[in-house]
Amino acid sequence: MAVPGRARGPHRVPVKAMATLDLFSPAKINLFLRVTRKRPDGFHDLASVFQAVSFGDTLGFDPLPASATSDTLTVSGDPELEALPTDDSNLVIKALNVFRERTGSQTRYAVHLTKRIPTGAGLGGGSGNAATALWAANELSGRPAGTDALVDWAADVGSDVPFFLSTGTAMVTGRGENVEAMPSLPPAAMLLVKPPEGVPTPEIFKRFSLENASDADPEALRREIERGVYVDGTTVNDLEAPAFAYLPKLGDLKARLAEAGRQEGLGYTSVFMSGSGATIVCLGADGVPELVRQDPELFRTPATFLNRPDDAWYADPNET
Ligand code: C5P
Repeated sequence: MAVPGRARGPHRVPVKAMATLDLFSPAKINLFLRVTRKRPDGFHDLASVFQAVSFGDTLGFDPLPASATSDTLTVSGDPELEALPTDDSNLVIKALNVFRERTGSQTRYAVHLTKRIPTGAGLGGGSGNAATALWAANELSGRPAGTDALVDWAADVGSDVPFFLSTGTAMVTGRGENVEAMPSLPPAAMLLVKPPEGVPTPEIFKRFSLENASDADPEALRREIERGVYVDGTTVNDLEAPAFAYLPKLGDLKARLAEAGRQEGLGYTSVFMSGSGATIVCLGADGVPELVRQDPELFRTPATFLNRPDDAWYADPNET
């Protein structure tokens, strides 16, 4: 039936259907992290198993009309996180700029970020958002690039960005640009806990000293992790020493969480720091110890490992 007042046929004003895309943007943890060398370029060589997790942000992408000359980025979620920069210094905008430079695309986007991942957490929040933006821009442009090209471009945005274009579990080496896909790992629940303070990654790397690093062979650690042996001997993190020197209460928090896990029979098989901190991962179970329940200042969330199929982005685990 014709709708009164609406012109039909040739008089109808064409409304171009613009595709929009809402994507989950997972956080990551490092199941182990060895720092093997300080490089002449100031970066450090790593050997680390990265794992995406079911906790994360959401990003919405709306292509803007051709007349738009810049992207827009709005942020909602945690009020403290809404203060994130929304200009070119935000990794999402950097990623979109890199995508346009490499592909010649002119499309600008209105991006909306629902932020849940704390900053300065070692959870790769900004890096994951950047990888999600590369994936989204590629999808909305008719997939001009393959995943290998996206991984390549991701390294120009930040060291941790390439990992997020894997299928969720990967051995990462070099500065972060070598991403070797691994099969999904035996599943494990976890509780992530972070003090209100964040830690700045460059500062932690600056304080890293090879003398305090583990001598465990990364390949041996990887084999144990592949078998699901998530114990303190396999979840080593060479950045704990400099991070705990920078923020002593973080070392205390790790020790208190491990002790509480034992005392309260919570079933954590290992308690360790993720990335350059300041998140402590209680792996093996997601029960919340009393010390966390009683401290409203501590960020906490349960999570599980998250993987994506070869041909699709990470599904939002909060949507059934
Ligand atoms: O690449 P991204 O901007 O995330 O790195 C932030 C800082 O962390 C670098 O400037 C460097 O100081 C340090 N870093 C490092 N080695 C890495 C990754 C980061 O020294 N593999």
